Amino acid sequence: MRLNKFLSSCGIASRRKCDEIISQGRVIVNGKVADSLGLSIDENKDRVEVDGKVLCLPKEFVYLKLNKPKGYACTASDERGRKTIFDLIKSDVRLFNVGRLDYDTEGLLIVTNDGDFANKIMHPSFAIEKEYIVTIEGEIKESELAVLRKGVVVNGERMPSARVKFVSTDGKFTKLSVVIDEGQNHQVRRMFEAIGRDIKLLKRIRIGKIRLGGLYRGMTKPLTRQEIDYFMGENR
Ligand code: URA
Repeated sequence: MRLNKFLSSCGIASRRKCDEIISQGRVIVNGKVADSLGLSIDENKDRVEVDGKVLCLPKEFVYLKLNKPKGYACTASDERGRKTIFDLIKSDVRLFNVGRLDYDTEGLLIVTNDGDFANKIMHPSFAIEKEYIVTIEGEIKESELAVLRKGVVVNGERMPSARVKFVSTDGKFTKLSVVIDEGQNHQVRRMFEAIGRDIKLLKRIRIGKIRLGGLYRGMTKPLTRQEIDYFMGENR
């Protein structure tokens, strides 16, 4: 396995960042500073250290989708003592969430112990689409949709443009589909705040080709091999 992939899978950083760490001479393989970016290692035999810490790959990789309910924080331990998504997940191995959903957002969240996989989903260069269903009170005007699609300005900064589609309305509430491929903090909420609309419910239903489907709130389900390969391509 390539050294940068090994480091990334252990959760050190993205492969590109790991190349930088190798170039900085911070990686030791079998007692010698790794001096080549293309170096391959035998993950079962070789001893790899970063900044003095010995690394080993998890015995088994775990990939789960979770339907996060509202009222759960995406953190291992919440400083305000709130419930966290890890209260919902039974696992013997240490997992981490890939990206975040706000405390009051629900829907699809991926949880894993594979750092390389997490980086593939998160890295802006892969521009993985995320789709949300936004529920607002009342109806939406064409002019508001046009502003959202063009990219609203928040505190002088233009938010990236989004694909926004009308889904349904019963007159009282309206549902919209919003697709973004950048993950700025609170991006969807800030977009709607900028046009003066309050989001009643925000739910993520898709990350790339991975869909929430009919997963019940608070439940997890392993990703299929196909879903994992969709992100990992031929590299795993
Ligand atoms: N955008 C938001 O505003 N909140 C989320 O939780 C996700 C995307």
